[in-house]
Amino acid sequence: MQMYDLICKKKTNKELSKEEIYWLVNGFTAGDISDAQMTAFLMAVYFNSMSARETFDLTMAMEHSGDVLDLSCIDKVTVDKHSTGGVGDKTTLVIVPIVASCGVKAPKMSGRGLGHTGGTIDKLESIPGFNTSLSFEEFTDVVKSVGCAVVGQTGHLTPADKKIYALRDVTATVDSIPLIASSIMSKKLATGNSCILLDVKCGSGAFMKDEKSARALADAMVEIGKSAGRKCSAMITDMTKPLGRAVGNSLEVIEAAEVLKGNEKGEFYDLCIKLAANMLSLAEKGTPEECEALAKDAITSGRAFSKFKEMISSQGGNPEAVEDYKLFKQPKNILKVCADKTGVITCKDCEEIGLVSLSLGAGRSVKDAPIDHSAGIYLNKLCGESVEKGEVIATLYSSIDCNMQKISERFSSAYQISDNKLV
Ligand code: URA
Repeated sequence: MQMYDLICKKKTNKELSKEEIYWLVNGFTAGDISDAQMTAFLMAVYFNSMSARETFDLTMAMEHSGDVLDLSCIDKVTVDKHSTGGVGDKTTLVIVPIVASCGVKAPKMSGRGLGHTGGTIDKLESIPGFNTSLSFEEFTDVVKSVGCAVVGQTGHLTPADKKIYALRDVTATVDSIPLIASSIMSKKLATGNSCILLDVKCGSGAFMKDEKSARALADAMVEIGKSAGRKCSAMITDMTKPLGRAVGNSLEVIEAAEVLKGNEKGEFYDLCIKLAANMLSLAEKGTPEECEALAKDAITSGRAFSKFKEMISSQGGNPEAVEDYKLFKQPKNILKVCADKTGVITCKDCEEIGLVSLSLGAGRSVKDAPIDHSAGIYLNKLCGESVEKGEVIATLYSSIDCNMQKISERFSSAYQISDNKLV
């Protein structure tokens, strides 16, 4: 087989066979195919797409390029949730304890922040002592005893995706539905859960900016999951504005704790209930209505919050931090952003709000850079709410050396006040 021929085939919009797809994935992972040839192939996929069968074969080839975890030692049924990423998306911190407290095992591997979006692992590491680097045995032991655990990737999973993703990142080939679907699903399948719920974010703060492309991505991923023998479903959820009030690591953990304690209601709480109910439904815990009632009861009874503390403690963290928030690292600088006129809050650019949080120190501009767990934004006023001139709209937090005043101006051009009530 020659890579040149496979590039020509995709360039002229022909379908590749399963053997050809495995050959190119394995060859590239082993270093036998150059970045130049792989880039040409990826660009041909970008323009000519892939059939559902090709996308499935690409996913399976990437899944099997490294370790594939076997979670059957935990339970026959284990549930996972994947979000395509957004601003202030801390749902994992709420739904994993809900699901576990309803008797469904939830072993979860999560990522770090990527671009303007935050990562669950960074958020959890803001809890003093919390260890996200458990070995596979430690991970499965915690899930067996507590019901849930959240860790960074353990083992040598999907090396093909790592290499291909890094190349896509620098060759403008990230935003291709078959490439995104196969990249996400290869990792989800390799982590071994039997049920997978996909939360496909849609809007200015997400990778998928419009409903049509979010639907196409959701359908492609669900088809892959089902073809691989997993129970799989998808929800398309709003990312035209930040999710909840907090953006930034410890701020988001605190907001999640408030939801788990039953102190915070609103859109973020509603989304957590819907996601948790869908996960319980995939695990066959009842009808959709029964699963929603179970999820709500997990919060009102206090079971989900106790489970969260149990998970923190089992992963080496101090569970008292989610009772006494002063135990989190405290920010050195605090700046309140006030309304310069009376009106209604609108979110003009959700991605920009994620980038503002990053510039306060909550994320990384280069891989593996340290982050400031105390940094971020608290939205005192949410989109659609009315404000009077002089009222506090948001509070910015940071412990790094940055120009807070300049950052607040950037924030104000993304999170605006409109004169009319139409938002
Ligand atoms: N996240 C992934 O893991 N892969 C993609 O291609 C895009 C987002």
